Amino acid sequence: MERGEGCASLTVLGIETSCDETAAAVVSRHADGSGAILSSVVLSQVAAHQAFGGVVPEIAARAHVEALDEVVAASLRQAEVSLAELDGIAVTAGPGLIGCLLVGVTTARALAAASGVPLLGVNHLEGHALTPALAEGAAFPYLLLLVSGGHTQLIGVDGFSRYRRLGSTIDDALGEAFDKTAKLLGLGYPGGPEVEKAAAGGDAGRFDLPRPLLGTPGCDFSFSGLKTALRLKAEAAAPLSEQDVADLCAGFQAAVAEVVAERTAHALAEGEWTALVAAGGVAANKAIRRALQETAERAGVPFLVPPPELCTDNAVMIAWAGLMQLAEGAITEEVVARPRWPLDRDAEPLLGSGRLGARV
Ligand code: KG4
Ligand code: ZN
Repeated sequence: MERGEGCASLTVLGIETSCDETAAAVVSRHADGSGAILSSVVLSQVAAHQAFGGVVPEIAARAHVEALDEVVAASLRQAEVSLAELDGIAVTAGPGLIGCLLVGVTTARALAAASGVPLLGVNHLEGHALTPALAEGAAFPYLLLLVSGGHTQLIGVDGFSRYRRLGSTIDDALGEAFDKTAKLLGLGYPGGPEVEKAAAGGDAGRFDLPRPLLGTPGCDFSFSGLKTALRLKAEAAAPLSEQDVADLCAGFQAAVAEVVAERTAHALAEGEWTALVAAGGVAANKAIRRALQETAERAGVPFLVPPPELCTDNAVMIAWAGLMQLAEGAITEEVVARPRWPLDRDAEPLLGSGRLGARV
């Protein structure tokens, strides 16, 4: 690291508490635009939510309160950086669970006030959107498919602060659909890896499951009809043998892989991209990755997936987005926790989603 040696690099502490990961990281950005991750601490709350088959907001908020101080201290310790040496403190201000966001924003505000450094409010989705530039050196404009437990969207990333939402789910997020499917079939939480494991021994063709929105124009997604269809098939076949569960999982996975690939192909056709990038927990799924790889090849662009620790929720991406704000002189004036915060302010409201552009 060149800080303190007269080199114009900036260092920011990032804090992420929007859902069920308590995370802090220290990241530097050098004058040439390259980045260096000095530390990254992520405390997952999966065990606390396991019994409920999904994230319980009150439990998540309380767990953040209990853990955040130590997570921040550990990130500074590992980076060997003191609060006074920071150029800014970046925090996820939205979108996310309000009680969880408030824990991060309140802590970051107090730390920034105590140490006299700027407070930088970051949109969580912007963190995901800018990660490929840090992790893969991806050049703008690239197409990002973000598929996690809370988000499913196709975002055109034209540059810092220049995002276009090309498509989004009109009901469940894809990770949520995996989790609900796992719960329905008596598998564990988080459901994605369990469904993938079960699907490995299954026959994807045995159950005829729908491919929602396939063959229609546009880049939006829908998964609730597929979930209902799967529930009806499961009820009709009950009691379910291990093979039945495997076949249902394989069928579900094949259906979503086909839909995701087709919607992504539509978005690829809508612009000139340097790459297709996938992020979010669901991007770990091998069947989906394979389908996306083929889609990218057909469109003639490289397919990039940042390493898992930068793909799922983390604070490195929040620090990096904060660093971009500092570098571009675009510091958020007022940092308030916002459960809903569309990345693309010009995007049409999501009619039919019941969310009117909220969960974008
Ligand atoms: O990005 P992420 O770690 O965080 C949040 O959304 O908070 O994504 C978690 C989601 C969960 O819904 C999980 O079931 C899903 O990603 N997931 C997967 C796989 N691994 C994680 N879905 C499908 N296949 C996987 N291998
Ligand atoms: Zn996320």
